[in-house]
Amino acid sequence: MLAPTIAPLAYASPLDQAVAVANPKARFWDKVARKYAAEPIADMAGYETTLRRVQGLLSTGHEVLEIGCGTGSTALRLAPCTRRFVATDVSPNMIAIAREKLEAQPMPALSFAVADADAPACGDGAYDAVLAFNLLHLVSDLDHALAQVVQALRPGGLLISKTACISEMNPLIPWLALPLMRAIGKAPHVLCFDARQLQSAIVRQGLDIVSVERHGTKGKDIRVFIVARKPA
Ligand SMILES: C[S@@+](CC[C@H](N)C(=O)[O-])C[C@H]1O[C@@H](n2cnc3c(N)ncnc32)[C@H](O)[C@@H]1O
Repeated sequence: MLAPTIAPLAYASPLDQAVAVANPKARFWDKVARKYAAEPIADMAGYETTLRRVQGLLSTGHEVLEIGCGTGSTALRLAPCTRRFVATDVSPNMIAIAREKLEAQPMPALSFAVADADAPACGDGAYDAVLAFNLLHLVSDLDHALAQVVQALRPGGLLISKTACISEMNPLIPWLALPLMRAIGKAPHVLCFDARQLQSAIVRQGLDIVSVERHGTKGKDIRVFIVARKPA
């Protein structure tokens, strides 16, 4: 079967496209963006629990950065709880879809931009919260990406994350299935760690762990929800 064609993306600016060409990390996600946008959320009850939890941590005075925002569905749900919400992703096609959604549902507090979570975030110390959902296992270097998060946060600001812990899966997946799929372009690069290793990496960057939770409602949940605070 032929791979689905990605529809022309009116909102992928020339600058976004130039960033994508320069950043090979975007290629996998650009290819799958339309399919990803069309897929239903696998565990809707777990997703809604996470959203309620995050809404409880945000306030209408907050400036928030979301990294790895995908097609912006979560940003569209959370931005009304904030003063300013900047949602970024390495994939211009993901951001183009997010901008289409924003045009259909305008929200002055929300903006989308192409940015790599492995690179320094714009706005040093500007954010009350940085959100990273289903992202931290996808960055090139976990410690480096977390250091960028810390840099973006104001003192007392929160990292709010939900992350797939690939080391908690059946070992055949990280050691056999994922490398095979990656070799044929059907899986992205992933980092393998468990929840304890992720917590250790967060603490190494100077953040204090506030909460470690699991919100899944369907069988074994490998996705850990962690809230951590930059010391004031
Ligand atoms: C599994 S999707 C999650 C999207 C969204 N956060 C969600 O929970 O539905 C991972 C997203 O991270 C993005 N991504 C991967 N590596 C990235 C990086 N280094 N910097 C920023 N975004 C990245 C991908 O383009 C993709 O949109």
